[in-house]
Amino acid sequence: MKAIIHENGQLKIGEMQEPIASVGEVVVALHAAGMNRRDIKIPERRGDAKDPLILGSDGVGIIESIGEGVDNWSIGDEVIINPSLRWFTQSAAPPEGFDILGMPDHGTFAEKIVISAEQIEKKPTNLSMDEASVLALAALTGYRALFTQGQLKKGDTVFIPGAGSGVATYLIQFAKNTGARVIVSSRVEEKRKKALELGADLAIDTNSNWKEELAGETIDLVIESVGRATFNRSLDVLKLGGRIVVFGATTEDVIELDLRKFFYGQYQLFGSTMGSREELRAMLKHVEEFGIKPVIDKVYRLEDGLEAFRNLENSEQFGKLVLRIKD
Ligand SMILES: NC(=O)c1ccc[n+]([C@@H]2O[C@H](COP(=O)([O-])OP(=O)(O)OC[C@H]3O[C@@H](n4cnc5c(N)ncnc54)[C@H](OP(=O)(O)O)[C@@H]3O)[C@@H](O)[C@H]2O)c1
Repeated sequence: MKAIIHENGQLKIGEMQEPIASVGEVVVALHAAGMNRRDIKIPERRGDAKDPLILGSDGVGIIESIGEGVDNWSIGDEVIINPSLRWFTQSAAPPEGFDILGMPDHGTFAEKIVISAEQIEKKPTNLSMDEASVLALAALTGYRALFTQGQLKKGDTVFIPGAGSGVATYLIQFAKNTGARVIVSSRVEEKRKKALELGADLAIDTNSNWKEELAGETIDLVIESVGRATFNRSLDVLKLGGRIVVFGATTEDVIELDLRKFFYGQYQLFGSTMGSREELRAMLKHVEEFGIKPVIDKVYRLEDGLEAFRNLENSEQFGKLVLRIKD
């Protein structure tokens, strides 16, 4: 079968053996896969590793075969893949054995995947295959960051730097549905416009003076994933005692932090990563209840996937990139 693989230090479109379902597993014929920033970082993290690895965390498709002991799914069911491996119940941090699909386990950028039946969920009925393919990783991450860690409530003002990010497009929708005021930043005017269309109340330029732009307004909760380029400026616009949740660091992990300012401000800092199956199911319920539509920037065919990698590397997108595997 065709797949995007990393092998001998190279990212390429290659051929892999078709998978077979063992006890407790299913084989899903994938129709589409969603891209995440993690995918473009994996070749760098694997260096010149020799063995082939199929990349990809997100995907949707139809169950094609079922292994022994799986009695709650049928051949022909439309399912999405839950990339948050072996984290089933909500907890303060992922349990031992947690991994994200797509390294070290083979991922979704392929015509088929074999996966534990515990790691699939029914595809939301209001979404197309393309839309459902870009949901799980980014929306789950956003959901836990905003609600479990960030404790967002009606009437809060939330600030999301980097509005073009895939996760941010879900954060904006979740926060608006909760009755929050949503402020975002983006470096690109077109993306600021799109964020407003998606429901944001105010969109400011990431490269502007935020205090000036906010004209005295302060923030209850910042959801940070841009990293070094914005972290300290995010802290500067936070209300005294406000909360900041970090789930990514696109522009570098290491920052300088003024501890005195931090403790005088009585700020609360939370880390967040992915989420449990319990949170994924709550997110899927929210998506169906509110009729959330993932924001798709562009659809590529699997065989043109390397171009999608370049697009994501340059942060050209607003929202998510899809790799279409089957029409
Ligand atoms: N911990 C987890 O479980 C988890 C899960 C998902 C993602 N993440 C991480 O969270 C981050 C966001 O993920 P994503 O997939 O949503 O990312 P993405 O779609 O690649 O978006 C990243 C956004 O960051 C902004 N950005 C990039 N370079 C910037 C710079 N130099 N200065 C200011 N802003 C910049 C851009 O926003 P504008 O173009 O709008 O300015 C860009 O759209 C990534 O670092 C990712 O690795 C972590």
